[in-house]
Amino acid sequence: LNKLTDSMLDDPAISKDEKFRFENEIDSFFTLFRRYLVEKSSTANTLDWDKIKSPNNETEVINYDRIVSTKDENVSNLNKLAVLKLNGGLGTSMGCVGPKSVIEVREGNTFLDLAVRQIEHLNTKYDSDVPLILMNSFNTDNDTQHLIKKYSGNRIEIKSFNQSRFPRVYKDTLLPVPESYDSGLECWYPPGHGDLFESLYNSGKLDELIEQGKEILFISNCDNLGATVDLKILNHLIESGAEYLMELTDKTRADVKGGTLINYDGEIRLLEVAQVPKEHIDEFKNIRKFKNFNTNNLWVNLKAIKRLVENDDLKMEIIPNKKFIKRNNQEIEVLQLETACGAAIRYFKGGHGIVVPRSRFLPVKTCSDLLMIKSDLFYLEHGTLKIDNERFGPNPLIKLGSHFKKVNDFQSRIQHIPKLLELDHLTITGNVFLGKNVTLKGTVIIVCSDGEKIDIPNGSILENVVITGNLQI
Ligand code: UTP
Repeated sequence: LNKLTDSMLDDPAISKDEKFRFENEIDSFFTLFRRYLVEKSSTANTLDWDKIKSPNNETEVINYDRIVSTKDENVSNLNKLAVLKLNGGLGTSMGCVGPKSVIEVREGNTFLDLAVRQIEHLNTKYDSDVPLILMNSFNTDNDTQHLIKKYSGNRIEIKSFNQSRFPRVYKDTLLPVPESYDSGLECWYPPGHGDLFESLYNSGKLDELIEQGKEILFISNCDNLGATVDLKILNHLIESGAEYLMELTDKTRADVKGGTLINYDGEIRLLEVAQVPKEHIDEFKNIRKFKNFNTNNLWVNLKAIKRLVENDDLKMEIIPNKKFIKRNNQEIEVLQLETACGAAIRYFKGGHGIVVPRSRFLPVKTCSDLLMIKSDLFYLEHGTLKIDNERFGPNPLIKLGSHFKKVNDFQSRIQHIPKLLELDHLTITGNVFLGKNVTLKGTVIIVCSDGEKIDIPNGSILENVVITGNLQI
């Protein structure tokens, strides 16, 4: 690691600020790495399953309907709010290059466009000045900076900062992969969204916000289209004096893996599937025992972040993430040590959860999600996706196969989004193309075998049907 910092210090072309930032990052990485080594070799941090209790539903995890605010209509608290989108991730899992937030999701709008439109509308409607802050990474910063230029005339202040860039380490030797500060992109990684607190502080943006009179930061994944500013939650947080609030939503059988809040030894904590001992995994996935999961919509007090970072108190569980990189035509296993911002709840005073309606959790992780949010199940209002009034019951379960994994493939196979208002379940696998004005109702399964092709003709109405090859049942 010293070699890494020396490699930059010796370079006269690099500015003092950049050198300072890099040294800081390497120091932070070293602290994380040392903690990883210590924790790996001791059992002190292993969870004792018997100490896990369900959180108290009066104080630790409260239902959204039960939060009472004396001032639900009070909009003056909006001036204490800043909104932050976690924008360090790439769109690789959906086959896109560049930041995930620039994928077009609805009516020509990207995730970023929708976030901007929502906040702009809020500021216009309530005459407020809520700023949008983007936490970028070295992977997403250039493209994002370029794109946000187009909003310079809008009624919204957009600030951004970069999260840390940490060196990956070889899994077998634990030595750093980069040899110099300018080693290739594959040698580095953004260390998860838990890095937000320290990076916000180091960037100077935290102090800037506090000086502007901001008190609360609403954080969410950039791909969660349901994460809109909610006045009731904001007012509840300010009135309750709590420093941290996590929005959870009820689990369905489709999201059994999400992290959940527990009471551990009297303290509130986030329990992630990676921390659960193998023999208790089924119990963890049981939706009756662990009823809800973290949406990663978090509301956090800015002064509390400052205090905790300055006291070096945030020690979220380390998630070792394995990856492969190419070296001399060989795949080599590397490790990246990450943390999650939801795990920080235990360090904030009065930290608690609120179980919110499912509509506040509308993530787009796959093209199956994309199909749903592009469809007539939703309509767009001032950048917010609203569920169509005629839809009853939960959202349909959509499973598109690997032919639809990349956004480009999805777009060429489904050029016209079918009507899904009466759909319960859709599975499509193989070489399938949908025509114009297709309506899907009930349960529709289309399975095309290898070497074949299925074209669903224009105007088709498919209801409770299984289509395989040329055969219809
Ligand atoms: P993830 O890639 O972690 O998605 O990105 P996930 O696994 O579905 O979600 P979690 O971790 O369980 O919540 C979640 C959000 O965090 C950002 C991504 O851009 C996305 O908006 N992110 C992720 C960062 O900003 N930095 C990172 O280092 C990792």
